[in-house]
Amino acid sequence: TRPFQIAVLAGDGIGREVMPEGLRCLRAAAERFGLSLQLHEFDWAHCDHYLAHGQMMPADWKAQLSGMDAIYFGAVGWPETVPDHVSLWGSLLKFRREFDQYVNLRPVRLFEGVPCPLTGRRAGDIDYIVVRENTEGEYTALGGVMFEGTEREIVVQESVYSRHGAERLLRFAFELARSRPRRRLALATKSNGIAISMPWWDQRADAVARDFPEVALEKHHIDILAARFVLQPDRFDVVAATNLFGDILSDLGPATTGTIGLAPSANLNPERSFPSLFEPVHGSAPDIYGKGIANPIAMIWSGALMLDFLARGTGAGRAAHDAIVQAIETVLRDGPRTPDLGGNANTREVGAAIAAHLAG
Ligand code: NAD
Ligand code: IPM
Ligand code: MN
Repeated sequence: TRPFQIAVLAGDGIGREVMPEGLRCLRAAAERFGLSLQLHEFDWAHCDHYLAHGQMMPADWKAQLSGMDAIYFGAVGWPETVPDHVSLWGSLLKFRREFDQYVNLRPVRLFEGVPCPLTGRRAGDIDYIVVRENTEGEYTALGGVMFEGTEREIVVQESVYSRHGAERLLRFAFELARSRPRRRLALATKSNGIAISMPWWDQRADAVARDFPEVALEKHHIDILAARFVLQPDRFDVVAATNLFGDILSDLGPATTGTIGLAPSANLNPERSFPSLFEPVHGSAPDIYGKGIANPIAMIWSGALMLDFLARGTGAGRAAHDAIVQAIETVLRDGPRTPDLGGNANTREVGAAIAAHLAG
Protein backbone atom coordinates (compact mmCIF):
# COMPACT_ATOMS: atom_id res chain seq x y z
CA THR A 1 0.00 0.00 0.00
CA ARG A 2 0.95 3.61 -0.57
CA PRO A 3 2.90 5.24 2.27
CA PHE A 4 1.17 7.97 4.26
CA GLN A 5 2.27 11.35 2.93
CA ILE A 6 3.09 13.70 5.80
CA ALA A 7 3.99 17.36 5.47
CA VAL A 8 6.43 18.49 8.15
CA LEU A 9 6.38 22.18 9.12
CA ALA A 10 8.53 22.96 12.15
CA GLY A 11 7.73 26.69 12.30
CA ASP A 12 9.41 29.06 14.74
CA GLY A 13 11.16 28.97 18.09
CA ILE A 14 10.86 25.74 20.02
CA GLY A 15 8.82 24.30 17.15
CA ARG A 16 12.24 23.70 15.63
CA GLU A 17 13.55 22.03 18.77
CA VAL A 18 10.66 19.70 19.47
CA MET A 19 10.03 18.67 15.84
CA PRO A 20 13.16 16.46 15.54
CA GLU A 21 12.07 14.56 18.66
CA GLY A 22 8.56 14.20 17.26
CA LEU A 23 9.97 12.78 14.04
CA ARG A 24 12.34 10.47 15.91
CA CYS A 25 9.41 8.92 17.80
CA LEU A 26 7.18 8.79 14.71
CA ARG A 27 9.86 6.84 12.87
CA ALA A 28 10.36 4.47 15.79
CA ALA A 29 6.62 3.80 16.09
CA ALA A 30 6.16 3.42 12.34
CA GLU A 31 8.97 0.89 12.17
CA ARG A 32 7.66 -1.15 15.07
CA PHE A 33 4.09 -1.29 13.77
CA GLY A 34 4.83 -1.63 10.06
CA LEU A 35 3.42 1.74 9.07
CA SER A 36 4.99 3.31 6.03
CA LEU A 37 5.47 7.08 6.25
CA GLN A 38 6.85 9.47 3.67
CA LEU A 39 7.90 12.73 5.34
CA HIS A 40 8.07 15.95 3.32
CA GLU A 41 9.79 18.84 5.10
CA PHE A 42 8.79 22.30 3.92
CA ASP A 43 10.89 25.35 4.70
CA TRP A 44 8.06 27.85 5.03
CA ALA A 45 5.22 28.80 7.40
CA HIS A 46 7.72 30.49 9.70
CA CYS A 47 8.62 34.10 10.40
CA ASP A 48 12.00 34.01 8.61
CA HIS A 49 10.12 33.18 5.44
CA TYR A 50 7.95 36.22 6.03
CA LEU A 51 10.98 38.45 6.56
CA ALA A 52 12.56 37.18 3.33
CA HIS A 53 9.46 37.10 1.11
CA GLY A 54 6.80 39.28 2.72
CA GLN A 55 4.53 36.20 3.03
CA MET A 56 4.42 33.34 5.49
CA MET A 57 3.97 30.81 2.69
CA PRO A 58 4.47 30.54 -1.07
CA ALA A 59 1.49 31.36 -3.28
CA ASP A 60 0.95 27.69 -4.19
CA TRP A 61 1.04 26.42 -0.58
CA LYS A 62 -2.38 24.86 -0.92
CA ALA A 63 -1.43 22.86 -4.00
CA GLN A 64 1.76 21.72 -2.27
CA LEU A 65 -0.15 20.43 0.75
CA SER A 66 -3.33 19.15 -0.84
CA GLY A 67 -1.92 15.75 -1.75
CA MET A 68 -0.74 15.17 1.82
CA ASP A 69 -2.55 12.86 4.20
CA ALA A 70 -1.59 14.96 7.22
CA ILE A 71 0.41 17.97 8.36
CA TYR A 72 2.75 17.63 11.31
CA PHE A 73 3.20 21.14 12.65
CA GLY A 74 5.50 22.63 15.30
CA ALA A 75 4.55 26.16 16.33
CA VAL A 76 4.46 29.54 14.63
CA GLY A 77 5.11 33.02 15.95
CA TRP A 78 8.01 35.36 16.56
CA PRO A 79 6.40 38.57 17.78
CA GLU A 80 9.72 40.40 18.02
CA THR A 81 9.92 40.54 14.21
CA VAL A 82 6.44 39.74 12.86
CA PRO A 83 3.14 40.70 14.53
CA ASP A 84 1.38 37.58 15.80
CA HIS A 85 -1.86 38.16 13.91
CA VAL A 86 0.13 38.40 10.66
CA SER A 87 2.12 35.21 11.21
CA LEU A 88 -0.80 33.18 12.53
CA TRP A 89 -3.43 34.33 10.02
CA GLY A 90 -0.80 33.73 7.35
CA SER A 91 -0.22 30.10 8.32
CA LEU A 92 -1.90 28.03 11.04
CA LEU A 93 -5.29 29.74 10.95
CA LYS A 94 -5.25 29.50 7.16
CA PHE A 95 -4.70 25.74 7.37
CA ARG A 96 -7.52 25.27 9.85
CA ARG A 97 -9.96 27.23 7.72
CA GLU A 98 -8.93 26.35 4.17
CA PHE A 99 -8.65 22.66 5.03
CA ASP A 100 -11.91 22.80 7.00
CA GLN A 101 -10.33 21.31 10.13
CA TYR A 102 -13.39 22.09 12.15
CA VAL A 103 -12.68 19.82 15.13
CA ASN A 104 -9.76 20.60 17.41
CA LEU A 105 -9.27 17.69 19.81
CA ARG A 106 -7.20 18.49 22.88
CA PRO A 107 -6.81 15.72 25.46
CA VAL A 108 -5.97 16.65 29.05
CA ARG A 109 -4.54 14.03 31.37
CA LEU A 110 -2.70 13.92 34.67
CA PHE A 111 0.12 11.35 34.51
CA GLU A 112 1.80 9.42 37.24
CA GLY A 113 5.02 11.08 38.36
CA VAL A 114 3.96 14.55 37.30
CA PRO A 115 3.54 17.03 40.14
CA CYS A 116 -0.01 18.38 40.03
CA PRO A 117 -0.52 22.01 41.05
CA LEU A 118 -3.96 21.09 42.44
CA THR A 119 -3.87 19.57 45.90
CA GLY A 120 -4.93 15.98 46.40
CA ARG A 121 -5.17 14.99 42.73
CA ARG A 122 -3.59 11.82 41.47
CA ALA A 123 -3.03 10.24 38.08
CA GLY A 124 -6.38 9.29 36.59
CA ASP A 125 -8.29 12.03 38.42
CA ILE A 126 -7.91 14.37 35.46
CA ASP A 127 -8.73 12.76 32.13
CA TYR A 128 -10.92 14.68 29.72
CA ILE A 129 -10.82 15.95 26.19
CA VAL A 130 -11.63 19.42 24.94
CA VAL A 131 -13.45 19.46 21.59
CA ARG A 132 -12.89 22.93 20.27
CA GLU A 133 -14.76 24.43 17.33
CA ASN A 134 -11.91 25.39 15.04
CA THR A 135 -13.10 27.36 12.00
CA GLU A 136 -15.72 29.88 13.13
CA GLY A 137 -16.74 31.85 16.17
CA GLU A 138 -14.68 34.61 17.70
CA TYR A 139 -11.83 34.07 15.19
CA THR A 140 -12.90 36.19 12.23
CA ALA A 141 -11.51 38.95 10.08
CA LEU A 142 -14.89 40.69 10.05
CA GLY A 143 -14.84 44.16 11.51
CA GLY A 144 -12.76 47.26 11.51
CA VAL A 145 -11.66 50.45 13.17
CA MET A 146 -13.56 53.66 12.59
CA PHE A 147 -12.58 57.26 13.33
CA GLU A 148 -9.07 55.97 13.75
CA GLY A 149 -6.71 58.17 15.69
CA THR A 150 -9.48 60.35 17.10
CA GLU A 151 -11.22 60.35 20.45
CA ARG A 152 -14.26 58.84 18.71
CA GLU A 153 -12.28 55.77 17.63
CA ILE A 154 -14.31 52.55 17.75
CA VAL A 155 -13.44 49.00 16.93
CA VAL A 156 -15.85 46.26 15.95
CA GLN A 157 -15.09 42.58 15.53
CA GLU A 158 -17.86 40.16 14.71
CA SER A 159 -18.25 36.56 15.82
CA VAL A 160 -19.79 34.16 13.34
CA TYR A 161 -21.51 30.85 14.02
CA SER A 162 -23.36 28.78 11.45
CA ARG A 163 -25.93 26.10 12.16
CA HIS A 164 -23.91 23.73 10.01
CA GLY A 165 -20.69 24.62 11.85
CA ALA A 166 -22.13 24.34 15.35
CA GLU A 167 -24.09 21.16 14.77
CA ARG A 168 -21.27 19.25 13.10
CA LEU A 169 -18.97 20.13 15.99
CA LEU A 170 -21.58 19.15 18.57
CA ARG A 171 -22.38 15.92 16.75
CA PHE A 172 -18.68 15.00 16.81
CA ALA A 173 -18.51 15.79 20.54
CA PHE A 174 -21.62 13.75 21.32
CA GLU A 175 -20.32 10.80 19.32
CA LEU A 176 -17.02 10.97 21.13
CA ALA A 177 -18.78 11.16 24.50
CA ARG A 178 -20.96 8.18 23.61
CA SER A 179 -17.86 6.13 22.82
CA ARG A 180 -16.29 6.76 26.25
CA PRO A 181 -17.18 4.90 29.44
CA ARG A 182 -18.49 7.92 31.31
CA ARG A 183 -20.61 9.32 28.47
CA ARG A 184 -20.63 12.88 29.74
CA LEU A 185 -20.55 16.03 27.68
CA ALA A 186 -20.00 19.50 29.12
CA LEU A 187 -20.76 22.49 26.91
CA ALA A 188 -18.97 25.78 27.53
CA THR A 189 -21.56 28.51 27.23
CA LYS A 190 -22.14 32.10 28.30
CA SER A 191 -25.83 32.45 27.65
CA ASN A 192 -26.31 34.92 30.48
CA GLY A 193 -24.04 37.65 29.12
CA ILE A 194 -23.48 36.90 25.42
CA ALA A 195 -27.19 36.96 24.89
CA ILE A 196 -27.55 36.20 21.19
CA SER A 197 -25.02 33.60 20.12
CA MET A 198 -24.72 31.65 23.37
CA PRO A 199 -28.43 30.87 23.95
CA TRP A 200 -28.39 29.85 20.28
CA TRP A 201 -25.50 27.43 20.99
CA ASP A 202 -27.47 26.00 23.93
CA GLN A 203 -30.39 25.36 21.58
CA ARG A 204 -28.16 23.72 19.01
CA ALA A 205 -26.82 21.42 21.74
CA ASP A 206 -30.33 20.53 22.92
CA ALA A 207 -31.35 19.74 19.35
CA VAL A 208 -28.37 17.44 18.73
CA ALA A 209 -28.77 15.88 22.19
CA ARG A 210 -32.05 14.29 21.08
CA ASP A 211 -30.03 11.89 18.94
CA PHE A 212 -27.81 10.95 21.89
CA PRO A 213 -30.05 9.97 24.79
CA GLU A 214 -27.16 7.93 26.33
CA VAL A 215 -25.02 11.03 26.79
CA ALA A 216 -25.47 13.28 29.83
CA LEU A 217 -25.24 16.90 28.68
CA GLU A 218 -24.35 19.67 31.13
CA LYS A 219 -24.02 23.33 30.22
CA HIS A 220 -21.58 25.46 32.16
CA HIS A 221 -21.06 29.18 31.85
CA ILE A 222 -17.46 29.63 30.84
CA ASP A 223 -16.53 31.54 34.01
CA ILE A 224 -17.59 28.82 36.42
CA LEU A 225 -16.36 26.16 33.99
CA ALA A 226 -12.87 27.63 34.34
CA ALA A 227 -13.21 27.46 38.12
CA ARG A 228 -14.43 23.84 37.96
CA PHE A 229 -11.43 22.86 35.83
CA VAL A 230 -9.41 23.78 38.90
CA LEU A 231 -11.74 22.69 41.71
CA GLN A 232 -13.50 19.61 40.27
CA PRO A 233 -11.54 18.40 37.24
CA ASP A 234 -12.67 14.81 37.86
CA ARG A 235 -16.17 15.80 36.85
CA PHE A 236 -15.23 16.24 33.17
CA ASP A 237 -15.15 13.75 30.32
CA VAL A 238 -15.75 15.52 26.97
CA VAL A 239 -15.89 19.32 26.93
CA ALA A 240 -17.24 21.10 23.83
CA ALA A 241 -16.50 24.76 23.32
CA THR A 242 -16.48 27.54 20.76
CA ASN A 243 -13.18 28.58 19.23
CA LEU A 244 -12.01 31.12 21.82
CA PHE A 245 -13.43 29.39 24.89
CA GLY A 246 -11.81 26.16 23.70
CA ASP A 247 -8.50 27.93 23.22
CA ILE A 248 -8.48 29.23 26.78
CA LEU A 249 -9.69 25.97 28.33
CA SER A 250 -7.03 24.00 26.48
CA ASP A 251 -4.21 25.94 28.15
CA LEU A 252 -5.93 25.97 31.54
CA GLY A 253 -6.59 22.22 31.52
CA PRO A 254 -2.97 21.21 30.78
CA ALA A 255 -1.72 23.74 33.34
CA THR A 256 -3.64 21.77 35.97
CA THR A 257 -1.78 18.65 34.84
CA GLY A 258 1.63 20.13 35.53
CA THR A 259 2.75 21.80 32.30
CA ILE A 260 1.42 22.93 28.95
CA GLY A 261 4.53 21.31 27.49
CA LEU A 262 2.81 17.96 27.15
CA ALA A 263 -0.58 18.97 25.70
CA PRO A 264 -1.20 17.66 22.16
CA SER A 265 -3.84 18.52 19.61
CA ALA A 266 -5.47 17.17 16.48
CA ASN A 267 -7.03 19.63 14.05
CA LEU A 268 -9.35 17.31 12.19
CA ASN A 269 -11.24 17.35 8.94
CA PRO A 270 -13.13 14.19 9.91
CA GLU A 271 -14.43 13.64 6.36
CA ARG A 272 -10.82 13.45 5.12
CA SER A 273 -11.53 15.78 2.19
CA PHE A 274 -8.43 17.71 3.25
CA PRO A 275 -5.32 16.92 5.29
CA SER A 276 -5.72 17.15 9.06
CA LEU A 277 -3.08 18.90 11.17
CA PHE A 278 -1.36 17.68 14.32
CA GLU A 279 0.51 20.06 16.61
CA PRO A 280 1.28 20.82 20.23
CA VAL A 281 -1.16 23.16 21.99
CA HIS A 282 1.73 25.39 23.03
CA GLY A 283 3.44 28.06 20.95
CA SER A 284 6.99 28.91 19.96
CA ALA A 285 8.04 29.88 23.51
CA PRO A 286 10.56 32.63 22.66
CA ASP A 287 11.47 32.84 26.35
CA ILE A 288 13.16 29.42 26.31
CA TYR A 289 14.07 29.03 22.63
CA GLY A 290 17.72 28.20 22.03
CA LYS A 291 18.30 26.58 25.41
CA GLY A 292 17.29 23.14 24.19
CA ILE A 293 15.06 22.57 27.23
CA ALA A 294 11.59 22.60 25.67
CA ASN A 295 9.43 19.64 26.61
CA PRO A 296 8.98 17.56 23.42
CA ILE A 297 6.11 15.46 24.77
CA ALA A 298 3.30 17.60 23.28
CA MET A 299 4.91 17.21 19.87
CA ILE A 300 5.42 13.46 20.32
CA TRP A 301 1.90 12.84 21.64
CA SER A 302 0.50 14.85 18.69
CA GLY A 303 2.34 12.41 16.43
CA ALA A 304 0.53 9.57 18.18
CA LEU A 305 -2.81 11.24 17.47
CA MET A 306 -1.74 11.56 13.83
CA LEU A 307 -0.90 7.86 13.42
CA ASP A 308 -4.17 6.90 15.08
CA PHE A 309 -6.13 9.11 12.69
CA LEU A 310 -4.19 8.09 9.57
CA ALA A 311 -4.22 4.36 10.08
CA ARG A 312 -7.54 3.98 11.86
CA GLY A 313 -8.72 1.40 9.36
CA THR A 314 -5.93 -1.09 10.01
CA GLY A 315 -5.64 -1.21 13.78
CA ALA A 316 -1.92 -0.49 13.48
CA GLY A 317 -2.65 3.20 13.93
CA ARG A 318 -4.30 2.64 17.29
CA ALA A 319 -1.55 0.26 18.36
CA ALA A 320 1.15 2.79 17.44
CA HIS A 321 -0.76 5.53 19.26
CA ASP A 322 -1.12 3.44 22.39
CA ALA A 323 2.55 2.44 22.35
CA ILE A 324 3.66 6.07 22.07
CA VAL A 325 1.39 7.13 24.93
CA GLN A 326 2.68 4.23 26.99
CA ALA A 327 6.29 5.26 26.32
CA ILE A 328 5.38 8.80 27.38
CA GLU A 329 3.80 7.43 30.57
CA THR A 330 6.93 5.47 31.37
CA VAL A 331 9.25 8.42 30.84
CA LEU A 332 7.04 10.77 32.85
CA ARG A 333 7.10 8.28 35.70
CA ASP A 334 10.78 7.31 35.62
CA GLY A 335 12.42 10.30 33.93
CA PRO A 336 14.25 11.94 32.30
CA ARG A 337 12.20 15.14 32.66
CA THR A 338 12.58 18.65 31.26
CA PRO A 339 12.71 21.69 33.61
CA ASP A 340 9.00 22.55 33.19
CA LEU A 341 8.42 19.26 35.08
CA GLY A 342 11.09 19.95 37.65
CA GLY A 343 13.81 17.93 35.91
CA ASN A 344 17.09 18.94 34.34
CA ALA A 345 17.08 16.91 31.14
CA ASN A 346 17.10 18.53 27.74
CA THR A 347 14.69 18.15 24.83
CA ARG A 348 16.83 15.57 23.06
CA GLU A 349 17.28 13.34 26.11
CA VAL A 350 13.54 13.13 26.67
CA GLY A 351 12.84 12.46 22.97
CA ALA A 352 15.52 9.78 22.85
CA ALA A 353 14.21 8.10 26.01
CA ILE A 354 10.68 7.89 24.60
CA ALA A 355 11.97 6.59 21.26
CA ALA A 356 14.06 3.96 23.07
CA HIS A 357 10.98 2.66 24.91
CA LEU A 358 9.16 2.53 21.59
CA ALA A 359 11.87 0.49 19.98
CA GLY A 360 11.36 -2.00 22.84
P1 NAD B 1 3.73 29.71 24.43
O1 NAD B 1 2.87 28.51 24.48
O2 NAD B 1 4.70 29.78 23.32
O3 NAD B 1 4.53 29.86 25.80
C1 NAD B 1 3.87 30.08 27.03
C2 NAD B 1 4.76 29.66 28.20
O4 NAD B 1 4.83 28.24 28.26
C3 NAD B 1 6.20 30.15 28.06
O5 NAD B 1 6.70 30.50 29.32
C4 NAD B 1 6.93 28.94 27.51
O6 NAD B 1 8.29 28.88 27.83
C5 NAD B 1 6.16 27.78 28.14
N1 NAD B 1 6.19 26.62 27.23
C6 NAD B 1 5.48 26.47 26.09
N2 NAD B 1 5.75 25.30 25.51
C7 NAD B 1 6.64 24.68 26.29
C8 NAD B 1 7.33 23.43 26.21
N3 NAD B 1 7.13 22.57 25.18
N4 NAD B 1 8.20 23.12 27.19
C9 NAD B 1 8.41 23.95 28.22
N5 NAD B 1 7.79 25.15 28.36
C10 NAD B 1 6.93 25.51 27.39
O7 NAD B 1 2.73 30.96 24.39
P2 NAD B 1 3.02 32.53 24.14
O8 NAD B 1 4.24 32.93 24.88
O9 NAD B 1 1.73 33.19 24.37
O10 NAD B 1 3.30 32.61 22.57
C11 NAD B 1 4.59 32.66 21.98
C12 NAD B 1 4.42 32.67 20.47
O11 NAD B 1 3.81 31.47 20.02
C13 NAD B 1 3.50 33.78 19.96
O12 NAD B 1 3.98 34.18 18.72
C14 NAD B 1 2.17 33.10 19.81
O13 NAD B 1 1.30 33.73 18.91
C15 NAD B 1 2.61 31.76 19.31
N6 NAD B 1 1.69 30.64 19.53
C16 NAD B 1 1.61 29.74 18.52
C17 NAD B 1 0.85 28.59 18.69
C18 NAD B 1 0.77 27.60 17.58
O14 NAD B 1 1.54 27.66 16.63
N7 NAD B 1 -0.12 26.65 17.64
C19 NAD B 1 0.18 28.37 19.90
C20 NAD B 1 0.30 29.32 20.92
C21 NAD B 1 1.06 30.46 20.73
C1 IPM C 1 -3.64 27.53 19.73
C2 IPM C 1 -3.05 28.91 19.57
C3 IPM C 1 -3.66 29.64 18.37
C4 IPM C 1 -5.15 29.78 18.61
C5 IPM C 1 -3.05 31.02 18.11
C6 IPM C 1 -1.57 30.93 17.96
C7 IPM C 1 -3.70 31.73 16.95
O1 IPM C 1 -3.19 29.64 20.74
O2 IPM C 1 -3.54 26.73 18.79
O3 IPM C 1 -4.18 27.25 20.80
O4 IPM C 1 -5.59 30.73 19.26
O5 IPM C 1 -5.88 28.94 18.14
MN1 MN D 1 -3.97 28.48 22.41
